[in-house]
Amino acid sequence: MTSPLRVVVLVSGAGSNLQALIDAAAGDGAPFRLLAVGADRDGTLGVERAATAGIPTFVCRVPDYLTRADWDLDLERQISAVDPDLVVSAGFMKVLGPAVLGSHRVVNTHPALLPSFPGAHGVRDAMAHGVRVTGCTCHWVDAGVDTGPIIDQRCVRVEDDDTVESLHERIKVVEREMLVDVVRALAADRSWQGD
Ligand code: GAR
Repeated sequence: MTSPLRVVVLVSGAGSNLQALIDAAAGDGAPFRLLAVGADRDGTLGVERAATAGIPTFVCRVPDYLTRADWDLDLERQISAVDPDLVVSAGFMKVLGPAVLGSHRVVNTHPALLPSFPGAHGVRDAMAHGVRVTGCTCHWVDAGVDTGPIIDQRCVRVEDDDTVESLHERIKVVEREMLVDVVRALAADRSWQGD
């Protein structure tokens, strides 16, 4: 049997996608294992969720470094310390730098149907455009902002009375399922490791 995929998750906020991964990784025979959870800020519920689940955590804040490049190098060092197969950016609100991307395969989850509405405000921007259908995307991370190859997408209809918050909550319900399915699929078929 293949050994569980070794995963590090990066978060910036509530960590509900992280929680879905924690739940899916629990129990014997799970196809992946969460080795550590990192955040770019203090006091996130995501880090609290990880600590509750007994997963090691670290915080790596841009303002604590002289340059963004120093932050990138130290984030890479902290990720590499646990030697993961895969890094999952699950609501991590920072663009990753060349040190991390040069050493790790990273997937990101985004609350819109890429390539439409990339960036930090995917839900708000999709609503402002007046779309009737939006959703979420899981993709490989490259040097651009939400530009990497798409792995999976799920659709969500926009209702007339939606607010950005209500729509985002409905997107997150399908997003959590998508992210778990993607990490399970990447654990089952490791051909991407040779890419
Ligand atoms: C998710 O919807 C994720 O796609 C989004 O932040 C939310 C995090 O929720 N990420 C981005 O907007 C990145 N551009 P969570 O903290 O509850 O998992």
